[in-house]
Amino acid sequence: ATIGKPIECKAAVAWGPNEHLKIETIQVAPPEDHEVRIKICYTAVCHTDAYTLSGQDPEGLFPVVLGHEGSGIVESIGKGVTDVAIGDHVIPLYVPQCRECKFCKSSKTNLCQKIRVSQGQGVMPNGTSRFTCNGKKLFHFMGCSTFSEYTVVADVSITKINKEAPLNKVCLLGCGVPTGYGAALNTAKVEKGSTCAVWGLGAVGLAVGWGCKAAGASKIIGIDINAKKFEIAKKFGFTDFVNPKDYEKPIQEVLIELTDGGLDFTFECIGNVATMRAALESCHKGWGVSTIVGVAGAGQEISTRPFQLVTGRTWKGTAFGGWKSRDSVPKLVDEYLTKKLLLDEFVSHNLSFNEINDAFHLMHTGESIRSVLTI
Ligand code: APR
Ligand code: ZN
Repeated sequence: ATIGKPIECKAAVAWGPNEHLKIETIQVAPPEDHEVRIKICYTAVCHTDAYTLSGQDPEGLFPVVLGHEGSGIVESIGKGVTDVAIGDHVIPLYVPQCRECKFCKSSKTNLCQKIRVSQGQGVMPNGTSRFTCNGKKLFHFMGCSTFSEYTVVADVSITKINKEAPLNKVCLLGCGVPTGYGAALNTAKVEKGSTCAVWGLGAVGLAVGWGCKAAGASKIIGIDINAKKFEIAKKFGFTDFVNPKDYEKPIQEVLIELTDGGLDFTFECIGNVATMRAALESCHKGWGVSTIVGVAGAGQEISTRPFQLVTGRTWKGTAFGGWKSRDSVPKLVDEYLTKKLLLDEFVSHNLSFNEINDAFHLMHTGESIRSVLTI
């Protein structure tokens, strides 16, 4: 009954930087060619939503419908859409996979560039928005905009998943969990028997720990200034914990002593350039690999002495854990269903859509791992 017509529904609109989100009635236009309209069922809240909302993101646009960690059901499809059909359970993907661009054709990267420009401009690939509120255009966000009962995404930015999977859990496969898990498995390629250390025990860092465990690491050290995170981290494979606040000397010196010369693999999952340096310098001479997973603020720079690299340490980075999104996310859903991948343990809070601003608050105070909202 709604096919081909605009849908009126609720969305959490960010009207301006640093303002609370407001639940508004918006109009969502039908999908155009190569677009899919989705009924969003669940969404989690992630740091990138908060970063853009804060106004610190120089590319942030307002008014906007934020949200990029969600799950839902296809309501209707535009012309030319072949991979999903009405009723399919889906996850929107902020890293698309067009399977045609130079990046998609390379096995070395997951960073599809097909719709990068329009996605950054907060519009659909044809340059227009599908959202209006009180006659005003709203921008899209990260090609997803999951803080809405209905959204429209490009067909390269969506993947069909197993219908058996609970949508209130697999929404987490839209961002943080695959990012951490893939950083260990795809980017760093953690080896069996190796020693690992992870800075930041939020959802991303915990997922890195789980990836290190899956790869057979012998020691996985969790590093956090919030000691409350250590108990839960044990569920994710962490074997040891270090709180930098307990030491006078730089944490890299502490870790090098603890591990007989340094770690085989380190991961930064905070987005802080000082801990990025500490993670690199905690690597073992000759072979240690440090992977940057956390997203630092715009304009920030990393530094170390080049001698650190000359003597055999490697500095890497990853986005969405290196997963080619449409190929990989359905497989991660299946890994969850066969209990190879944890998801339930990441959900610390279940909230209603009306409580969305509380979810941001829980994230800022460090109380939540992930809050999942029922849309
Ligand atoms: N040293 C050690 N731990 C720290 C420090 C620090 N200087 N600063 C913060 N932390 C810890 C926090 O206590 C928290 O447990 O880092 C953890 C970060 O976790 P979350 O805030 O829950 O973040 P998460 O969702 O895991 O995302 C981490 O990845 O996606 C990016 O932008 C995101 O940069 C962020 C990072
Ligand atoms: Zn591509």
